[in-house]
Amino acid sequence: MDKKSTKKDLRPFMADFDLMYGIMRNPDSQLVRLASSMRGHYADERALEELIARGDPVHYEVFEKTVPQKKGHLQFGISKTYPGTVGGECFMTKGHYHAVADTGEVYLCLRGEGYMLMKLSNGDSAVERFLPGNMVYVPPFWGHRSVCTSDEPLITFYVYPAEAGHNYGDIEKEGFPVRVFKRAGKVEIVPNKKG
Ligand code: PA5
Ligand code: NI
Repeated sequence: MDKKSTKKDLRPFMADFDLMYGIMRNPDSQLVRLASSMRGHYADERALEELIARGDPVHYEVFEKTVPQKKGHLQFGISKTYPGTVGGECFMTKGHYHAVADTGEVYLCLRGEGYMLMKLSNGDSAVERFLPGNMVYVPPFWGHRSVCTSDEPLITFYVYPAEAGHNYGDIEKEGFPVRVFKRAGKVEIVPNKKG
């Protein structure tokens, strides 16, 4: 092993989480996705445009420490998906496969409630529940999307191999086999015509 280059990579460090508010206090990067960055993902496109016109609310935030995006390192962070609906469909993340497809991921739910929607490109799919203390294992090759069903943000801590990267394009085309709606406080998981 080349000790010099390993040493230069990164020194040990600490990430400071606020578990109450579901944020990282000392992130290197903070991604904020607004309703306007979710076009094409919800069933009711008109409802999304109305929501954007009414103030373009935040759908989710991602807090990360920067690590080298190469084999051996672990990328981790906090994903915070806000409560809300678009034409009854619960706020969710875009969802993605990993660009290096044979890499898995774990998500530990810290607060809030929801679901992890997962799918393989051959059409197989799975849904797991997010409740505080639940950890969802996303195996290699499985596309994944978080959905918030609670009245408070869904907060998860995630870790994946740092070389994995994100492939959003295929999920944009395919969608997921199910959609999650909340009407009059009742959560429903329904088949997606597009998925
Ligand atoms: O890599 C992951 O799975 C997470 O960091 C997600 O990127 C995060 O939850 C946001 O979701 P997405 O990347 O689908 O917008
Ligand atoms: Ni991922």
